[in-house]
Amino acid sequence: MSVPQPPEPIPGARLLFSLDPAVSHLNHGSFGAVPIVVQRAQQRLRDEMEANPLRFFTQGLSDRVAHARRHLATFLGADPDGTALVGNATTGVAVVLQSLGLRPDDEILSTDHGYGAVTLSIDRECRRTGAVSRVMPVPLDATNEEVVQSVRDAMRPGRTRLLVVDQLTSATARLFPAAAIVAVAHEQGVPVLVDAAHVPGMLPTTVASVGADFWVGNLHKWAYAPRGTAVLVVAPSWRERIEPLVVSWEQEAGFPARLEWQATQDYTSWLAAPVGAFALRSLGVDRVRAHNARLARYGQRVVGDALGVAPELLPDPGGPEVAMRLIPLPPNLATTIEAARALQQRIAERLATEVAVMSWNGAGWLRLCGQVYNSPDEYERLAVRLPPLLAQR
Ligand SMILES: Cc1ncc(COP(=O)(O)O)c(C=O)c1O
Repeated sequence: MSVPQPPEPIPGARLLFSLDPAVSHLNHGSFGAVPIVVQRAQQRLRDEMEANPLRFFTQGLSDRVAHARRHLATFLGADPDGTALVGNATTGVAVVLQSLGLRPDDEILSTDHGYGAVTLSIDRECRRTGAVSRVMPVPLDATNEEVVQSVRDAMRPGRTRLLVVDQLTSATARLFPAAAIVAVAHEQGVPVLVDAAHVPGMLPTTVASVGADFWVGNLHKWAYAPRGTAVLVVAPSWRERIEPLVVSWEQEAGFPARLEWQATQDYTSWLAAPVGAFALRSLGVDRVRAHNARLARYGQRVVGDALGVAPELLPDPGGPEVAMRLIPLPPNLATTIEAARALQQRIAERLATEVAVMSWNGAGWLRLCGQVYNSPDEYERLAVRLPPLLAQR
């Protein structure tokens, strides 16, 4: 199998970011990177806030937030009336969990590809309410049909009160057939929370097409928004039952205002977030998606080759537009989360390269992303320098 061709670079794109040029940033997925134009827009909003805090908070702020929300919802193909801005995906998940009114012996079903902090949140809500968390194993190489079948078999109608499933998983960079999973869950009357943290800006799927009861997505990863910008999209039948984590002045206003007005906090990330979507559109959303996915595929292959991984053993994320890919690490590396973190740190320090090192089901994986500011030579350099580093254990 020949190495796939890297994409044509998007000229000048790196200059749109303030990333340290001495470092290869191959892990856009974890915390994103905010284009300079978006940073500037947020700073201008902060300047306005500091020029007259009273006026900023009391004159028109909720209208400005609603305007940003409508813009972002439309960008994501979500119902603007069913969308609330929240600080991050983790918050969106916690809001849903504590709004369910779980009772002892109710069950929350999730998969072993779930994001660690989300699993911890489910565990805490179960401890608080007496509900039970059940984690369904899904093999990394399961086909979409097998994934849907496992979900169908695992649900216990009448007892499973929520299914939590990722649209694009973090630890395993796997695209799950979210719409098909939602459909089988709904056949059995089970509501679904789709954790789509990585979807906004990366995948073309609209939120509406997934049909979930609850959908959370981060704008601050692939949609170039300032950090602290995420959405929780809620189906009509649930909206009035959704309670914020913190009760504030808009509590009686219902969804989404009661979620969005979270007392005195910095709302400038939400107000500047549409500039991120604008930056993405200016570059060409389809062009950016195609570029990033092709670059991640190229990087997976060159680094995989350097680590002696046969191309057929490189996990396929399950969709051509996925811009983060996994490479298996040699045995006995990153077998625990702590070991994975330590290795990630060692790669950052010794190779001036930011990657994600994942530990999933006792095996270690390298996760590489592609973004407009990356170039093929960054992966090629990693391919040369990583094997000797891994050899010195
Ligand atoms: C699948 C998934 N869910 C949730 C999160 C949490 O996102 P945040 O830290 O913005 O809440 C992440 C972050 O990487 C993620 O990958």
